[in-house]
Amino acid sequence: MDSFRCVTDLLSVLVTLVTSKLIRVGPTLSIQKHFMMDIIYTLAVIAILYFIVCLLLILLGDCDLLLQIAERFAVLKGKVVWITGASSGIGEYLAYDLAKAGCRLVLSARRKEELERVKKQCLLHASTSNITEGDIMVLPLDCLKLDTHQEAFDKVLEHFKQVDILVNNAGRSQRAEWISTSLEVDREMLELNVMGVLSLTKKVLPHMVKRKEGHIVNMSSVAGKFGKETILC
Ligand SMILES: NC(=O)c1ccc[n+]([C@@H]2O[C@H](COP(=O)([O-])OP(=O)(O)OC[C@H]3O[C@@H](n4cnc5c(N)ncnc54)[C@H](OP(=O)(O)O)[C@@H]3O)[C@@H](O)[C@H]2O)c1
Ligand SMILES: *[C@@H]1O[C@H](CO)[C@@H](O)[C@H](O)[C@H]1NC(C)=O
Ligand SMILES: *[C@@H]1O[C@H](CO)[C@@H](O)[C@H](O)[C@H]1NC(C)=O
Repeated sequence: MDSFRCVTDLLSVLVTLVTSKLIRVGPTLSIQKHFMMDIIYTLAVIAILYFIVCLLLILLGDCDLLLQIAERFAVLKGKVVWITGASSGIGEYLAYDLAKAGCRLVLSARRKEELERVKKQCLLHASTSNITEGDIMVLPLDCLKLDTHQEAFDKVLEHFKQVDILVNNAGRSQRAEWISTSLEVDREMLELNVMGVLSLTKKVLPHMVKRKEGHIVNMSSVAGKFGKETILC
């Protein structure tokens, strides 16, 4: 929504400019002032149209404006994106959209067959971009097994030589009354949702810092912002 705020700010500046001009100019308007007013009105109309177009794009698009612009200018094309939890849900559908945008993908989760299914679908979705078999790597990974993370990262580097974006999406939420949830469940949640993310990030980050390039995306939840006695995320 940053771009949205930027547009509204621009609009309010222009409106202030127009109204302050209107108040200051009296009935003895010179031709020059008419000309200035015309320019300001034109700018204001352009700004309002721009605002309406942005608003429509935000309402019709499935993401914010910056991402739509990035898509338009193929900023994501050829980037290597490693998605954990890519075998279902948000991770799976993110993979389809990134394949469409021409990204090279590493798909990770525990269920290999499901990852293979997602890979096939990605290649179908990617008919408009030029990605092929070799651009999508299926890499089974249990995020809970922290001692396997280095080996997994090495395999990614071997295949793609780089990671541009890491999406820490694998995770679980527990929908039960906390009072009757065993400590073991709490431990698994923390291990997967927190330690798993920290561990994989620690493997990839030095590589990104060295290249002075890279993004780390963490899938979170509103449950992380507003605690509730029955949900643990
Ligand atoms: N959907 C929502 O409304 C919602 C709301 C808030 C937050 N989230 C968060 O968004 C993320 C994705 O959610 P989703 O709704 O798409 O859930 P989902 O369909 O259950 O997907 C979870 C993914 O994580 C993978 N996963 C689970 N345990 C794993 C492990 N130990 N190692 C590696 N991968 C593992 C699963 O694959 P395998 O089983 O094959 O390993 C699956 O691909 C989660 O972190 C979730 O907490 C979702
Ligand atoms: C697509 O083609 C370009 C050259 O046209 C190439 O550089 C790139 O690696 C190919 N694959 C992807 C995923 O962009
Ligand atoms: C995601 O989590 C990692 C590990 O805690 C952190 O280094 C990174 O800054 C987080 N990314 C965002 C966008 O918050």
